[in-house]
Amino acid sequence: MNVDADRRSPPCALVIFGASGDLTARKLLPALERLSGYGALPPEVALVGVARTPMTDAEFGDLCRRNVPGPVEPRWKELAATARYVHGGYDDPATYQRLAEVMAECDHRHGTAGNRVYYLATPPRLFGPIAISLGKAGLSTPAGDGFVRAVVEKPFGWDEASARGLYAELSSAFSEEQIFRIDHYLAKETVQNLLALRFANSIFEPIWNRTWVDNVQITVAETLGVGERGGFYETTGAMRDIVQNHVLQVLSLFLMEPPTSFHAEAIRDEKVKLLRAIQPLDDEAEIAANAVRGQYTRGGTRDDLMRGYRDEPGVDPLSATETFVAMRLEVQNWRWTGVPVYVRTGKRLPARVTEVAMEFRRPPQLPLFPGTAERLDPDALIVRVQPDEGLSLRFGAKVPGHAFRVQKASMDFSYESFEEQSPDAYERVILDALIGDPTLFIRADEVGRSWRIVDPVMQCWAADDRPIPLYQAATWGPPEATAMIARDGRSWRHSS
Ligand code: BG6
Repeated sequence: MNVDADRRSPPCALVIFGASGDLTARKLLPALERLSGYGALPPEVALVGVARTPMTDAEFGDLCRRNVPGPVEPRWKELAATARYVHGGYDDPATYQRLAEVMAECDHRHGTAGNRVYYLATPPRLFGPIAISLGKAGLSTPAGDGFVRAVVEKPFGWDEASARGLYAELSSAFSEEQIFRIDHYLAKETVQNLLALRFANSIFEPIWNRTWVDNVQITVAETLGVGERGGFYETTGAMRDIVQNHVLQVLSLFLMEPPTSFHAEAIRDEKVKLLRAIQPLDDEAEIAANAVRGQYTRGGTRDDLMRGYRDEPGVDPLSATETFVAMRLEVQNWRWTGVPVYVRTGKRLPARVTEVAMEFRRPPQLPLFPGTAERLDPDALIVRVQPDEGLSLRFGAKVPGHAFRVQKASMDFSYESFEEQSPDAYERVILDALIGDPTLFIRADEVGRSWRIVDPVMQCWAADDRPIPLYQAATWGPPEATAMIARDGRSWRHSS
């Protein structure tokens, strides 16, 4: 893959905090290696690692080379060979003094021109302290026309109040324009294609409203369990891990009003407006009727028996943490009032699928096909985010033959029809942060509004001492989720 000339990083020192950690090894270094292969990281880009693990520059360079699969790109070899490493505590002023010296050396040797991108690949509790220390050391202020940016990953806080606390800590050193909050779902090719689908075509927008749409369903289903992340997941759960960020971000892009331009602020303004139009489920009765949680138990087949969540390493044997969430939301604005939006996510479901589906209203009358409408699934437009990235339009078609029978047919578009390969989400976000394009990053007001939607439900569940509904691994969640949508006379897609 080649990158466009304007998709090349400007001169910059890319500083990774948490350089010896898991995220760096699994996601960041392989993404950087691929970017270096596309020519996106010119010689004026230098790599600096910061972490508590003692390591020399050469050992860090070696770690960079070791963590990429396959033959290593020549430019990556060069970046790794010149990589610098700062070892020290994240709250120790000496670490930042040393970092300042190393970055000044990079300016001198590589021409990084005083520009810095700090990627905080550390546990979230360190985001605030690192930002404050960078600020105190005078390392968060750009020099002249240059730039200094801080990249942080979700979770952005634990609830609305702690998100506000984190915001205060980050903004003690960085302005909002300098903060790049990652939601890697936004960098997925098909999620971005939502914008092309809606706004680069004229055929979809006229039907994108309550006149034509009966309901919207967003599914983020995973077959994996929590694996080795039990300790983290115990205090997180599916609502914080997936709904508060990935689901609400995809939802807002799918349902927002057309932005006045493709400028980052115009798009983010529309997303936050949409989030504001979602009425939080506030009282207990409303939450009971419109939100379902669940936890997986042992299940699967004799050959592939999967352990229950409470038996996973690092999980409390009496845990009430949810590994499944289903909710019925309403967007109260001119376009969507009266169209339910069903969202569903879970670990250990029968299929790995992330999709957004729009089901259309039934035809008002089907005199030619008595009984057909009830038997057919509704017409639907389905955006498959992963796997098999693509788009399907499902509709009724006549079955060949003498009888007039109607059956579901579909028109499919697959991303495989493009010769170009989709970049990995991390390649996209790292390069955008280096270039300074904030479109795919989340603004502080979006974070706050998303917490406002999920907080009341989580508080209600935390206060509920009834046992959490259970579902067997490799099934589509607890029966309560099916009952919730069935009350509206509808059913989940992929539910059998
Ligand atoms: C992460 C969650 O944000 O997204 C994980 O913390 C989840 O629990 C992952 O598995 C899913 O991402 P993807 O890109 O594999 O769909």
